[in-house]
Amino acid sequence: MSFPHHRPRRLRTTPALRRLTAEHRLSPAELVLPAFIREGLTSPHPISSMPGVVQHSTESLKRAAAEAVQLGVGGIMLFGIPAHRDATGSAGLDPDGVLNRAIADVRSEVGDELVVMSDVCLDEFTDHGHCGVLASDGTVDNDATLAVYAEMAVAQANAGAHVLGPSGMMDGQVAVIRQALEEAGHQETAVLAYAAKYASAFYGPFREAVDSQLTGDRRTYQMDAANRREALLEVELDLEEGADMVMVKPAMSYLDILADVAALSPVPVGAYQISGEYAMIEAAAANGWIDRRRAIEESVLGIKRAGANIILTYWAAELAGWLKE
Ligand code: PBG
Repeated sequence: MSFPHHRPRRLRTTPALRRLTAEHRLSPAELVLPAFIREGLTSPHPISSMPGVVQHSTESLKRAAAEAVQLGVGGIMLFGIPAHRDATGSAGLDPDGVLNRAIADVRSEVGDELVVMSDVCLDEFTDHGHCGVLASDGTVDNDATLAVYAEMAVAQANAGAHVLGPSGMMDGQVAVIRQALEEAGHQETAVLAYAAKYASAFYGPFREAVDSQLTGDRRTYQMDAANRREALLEVELDLEEGADMVMVKPAMSYLDILADVAALSPVPVGAYQISGEYAMIEAAAANGWIDRRRAIEESVLGIKRAGANIILTYWAAELAGWLKE
């Protein structure tokens, strides 16, 4: 009788052995909690397609941020939903606008205990729902948008954001934001570039989360799901333009991109597990089709294994709580 020469099962026999030999493990510090604040709310408002996620009021956002600190979460990424929208997204530039106030409120709540990040993009602020301003023919005008992003970035840095996350996929956005920050004396405000952001159906629930007015899609500015090589070009350009960190988004359908970027990036690599990824797992779990906690842990671990150093996930706080158990 001959025996197998190698028995990989040996290291799988007990939980302690599996724990000892695990190649990757998650920690709260690498997680970032995306959070929505809606102008005028006095109590949190549920988002039906993202059970467990809410549009925050000022008070509930501050509580969520304080809880994130307690749990050891690494950061929070803020998105604002203004009461009034216009063609150029001017509420995003207003120091008293919902997002800029939220940044200041969260900073005064958490100080430097939590990395405060904010979305630099116009889609939450425009009445047409696009990430930039429109040219007369209705297309998104890249260079006119850059000028707005520069102002928006300075407003967010003034409000106290540690890290800015330009998510609009305009060409040259990192460079203009970096330059505007330097000129305004915000040398220390970092830029997390959404380097490889794909036009994805999985953003669906986010539209409800921010009450988006968008009709149509973002295929003229976000990347095509068919492309892999192009992600490396986007990363290279963002690094040249001064990105401090780069991100891949969405995560689960783009783990090959994440692995490629992680293999070559000299700066920390983020991944954003987006609204549709959240909704799919929650919906399957609610139907009893998958084990919720195991599916969440496995999905986030997969993102880590593919090479992410920083993971944005709507489960950040809950997962951090489990990791502390
Ligand atoms: C754009 C932005 C979007 C998301 C984050 N930033 C929407 C989009 O690009 O269509 C989506 C995040 C998610 O789906 O969880 N400001």
